[in-house]
This record gives sequence, C-alpha cells and structure tokens, in this order.
Amino acid sequence: MATRILVTGALGQIGTELVEALRDNYNPQSVIATDIRDVANHSILKSGPFFILDVLDGNALEKLVIEFQIDTIYHLAALLSATGEKNPELCERVNVGGTKVVFECAKKHGLRVYAPSSIAVFGPDCPDLAPQVTPLNPTTVYGKTKVNGEQLGLMYWKQFGVDIRGIRYPGLISYKAPAGGGTTDYAVEIFSAAIESGHYDCFVRGDTRLPMMYMEDAIRATLELMSTPSEQLGDSRAGYNIAGCSFTVDELVTSIRRHLPSFTCSFNPDIRQQYADSWPNEIEDKLARKEWLWIPEFDLDRMVDAMFVGLQN
Ligand code: NAD
Ligand code: SER
Repeated sequence: MATRILVTGALGQIGTELVEALRDNYNPQSVIATDIRDVANHSILKSGPFFILDVLDGNALEKLVIEFQIDTIYHLAALLSATGEKNPELCERVNVGGTKVVFECAKKHGLRVYAPSSIAVFGPDCPDLAPQVTPLNPTTVYGKTKVNGEQLGLMYWKQFGVDIRGIRYPGLISYKAPAGGGTTDYAVEIFSAAIESGHYDCFVRGDTRLPMMYMEDAIRATLELMSTPSEQLGDSRAGYNIAGCSFTVDELVTSIRRHLPSFTCSFNPDIRQQYADSWPNEIEDKLARKEWLWIPEFDLDRMVDAMFVGLQN
C-alpha cells in the first residue's frame, strides 16, 4: 500500500518545508497536514489536505488516522525553548503530553513515527563537542521535554515495537517560514533584518557559538533517516546527533558582510543567552554517519549564500 502520512504542527518552521518535500516524494493527497492554528494563504493549505488538530486531542487524531488510513506520523507540534520557558506548564503539556498521544495512537494502529529531538537535550555538563551518548542534564524545561520524548520513543520501540525515530536537530536556518520562538531564532532573524534595514540587534553575545543547520540539510536528513531499514538503527534511534555547521554570531556577521559590506550588528543579551550558554558549541555525529550514512552539505558561507538567494527572490 502507498505511504499515507499525517504531519502535526505542520505550519511551523520545519513543517512548512517538510510537508512540501513529502508531497514532492509521495502523492500530495496522501500527505495530511495538521496544526492547531490556521494561517491564511499558507502554501501547504494549497498543495494538499489540511485539518485543524490539537495534538492533545487523541480522539480527533485517531479519527484522521482511520479516515485517511495513515501509516506514518511526522510529529512536529511543540513549543520551542524561548516560548516554552515563558510557559513551562504548557510546554510540558504539549511537548510531553502531545508526544504520548501520538505514540499511543501509533501503538494502537501500527504506525511509524518521526518525532524530532533537539540539541537542547544537553546541559552545561556536556562537553563543548557533544557526544552521541553522554549524560543528559538540560537546565531548560524545553530540554527536559525533549529528553523525555527520546526516552519515551525508545521505550515504545523496545516494549511495544513501535517504529519511532528522531534527530537532535541543531538550530535550523531557513527563509520560507518564520522561526517558531526558539533560542536559535537570532540566526534566522538576522537575515531579514540585514536585508530590510542593514542592522540587527542580537539577543545573544557575538561570541555565542551553537550548532546550526540549513533547512535543506535538515529535511534531507529527516527523509534519509525515515527511509533507512529499521534493523540498521540502534539504541539512539529516537535522538541522533547530526552536525551541520557551528559558528559564532560574529562569524555569521562576517559571512553576511560578503553580501552586505555595510551590515552592522549590536548585542543586547537577554534571558535566551542563558539557554544558549547551557547548550554545547558543536555536535559529534559519527553514529548517524555510520548507521544511516548522514553527511551534511551546507557550511556557513554556503548557507548564507542560499539564504540571500532565497530571501531576495
Ligand atoms: P514551530 O514553532 O515553528 O512549529 C510548531 C508548530 O506546532 C506551530 O505551527 C504550532 O502552531 C504547532 N502547535 C503548537 N501547539 C500545538 C498543539 N497543541 N497541537 C498542534 N499543533 C501545535 O517549530 P519547528 O521549528 O517547526 O519545530 C518542530 C519540531 O522540531 C519541534 O519538536 C521542535 O522542538 C523541533 N526542533 C526544532 C528546531 C528548530 O531550530 N526549528 C531545532 C531543534 C528541534
Ligand atoms: N532551535 C531550537 C530552539 O532554540 C532548539 O531546539 O528552541
């Protein structure tokens, strides 16, 4: 039977591009996009089916799964770090509660699930170059929900045979949809500010270095992980480290000046500096390279070039 997919949180930064990639790869009518909100004229409302769905509503999710004979869920609905720390109770309810709803539905109906994790699973005790296997002691509520999601994913796989996979995405950089309230949003906002006003006021210091990735690499990684035979994946299947490019804001500014020599950036760190400081500088991704042949394509300059092309067209 042909693959029939449901995507939760589909109108966000990742969903906007993942749904299009899935609709390019499969029958567009078999890729059901859902989100708790509606966005007028959003591209994915035009390219295939869309339904309003609160991921906490298990009955509504199950109804869609049965109606459209879904076999795979890409579960993107979540609150990101900056929004989540402002409302920790909601963050836990949506990120952990919503993930349990999706995993239970998958268990009942024999579905495969993609549920992303994050570099936020690491805490201040993690080495600067984050290994795949290391104690996970995040200080943010968001990070704790992501550790919880990975642990649940592995538990559903081991105890119930539910095929759950995930990637610890670095900060994702893209131009097709706004960033969704994370700490790494500065690396997205800086481009539109540079082009529109020639200046950006950054909410973390210039020497802040975090793992980042261009969205095209992240979408390819997602599709490659999901098409890997299950027997190739080991105990990190619910949260693979993948590295893209790691850079400081100062290095990002230098790269942007190749396109806009007069671009200026000021620095006014806020609470998000603390979240950034609690995460590693870089990610070590040997296991993803070994188990499902992951290789990144975009370095800093190539990513910046692609952002300028995307935003100026
Ligand atoms: P986003 O904030 O852009 O999108 C999330 C979507 O979820 C939004 O459209 C929102 O409306 C929806 N949503 C929120 N609550 C919901 C609910 N109760 N029911 C249904 N939908 C709901 O986030 P994103 O950047 O697309 O992230 C998707 C996933 O990837 C999340 O799990 C996030 O933790 C993870 N991730 C993202 C990044 C990144 O840099 N973007 C990095 C690491 C991990
Ligand atoms: N980019 C995300 C955030 O900053 C990391 O998961 O919240």
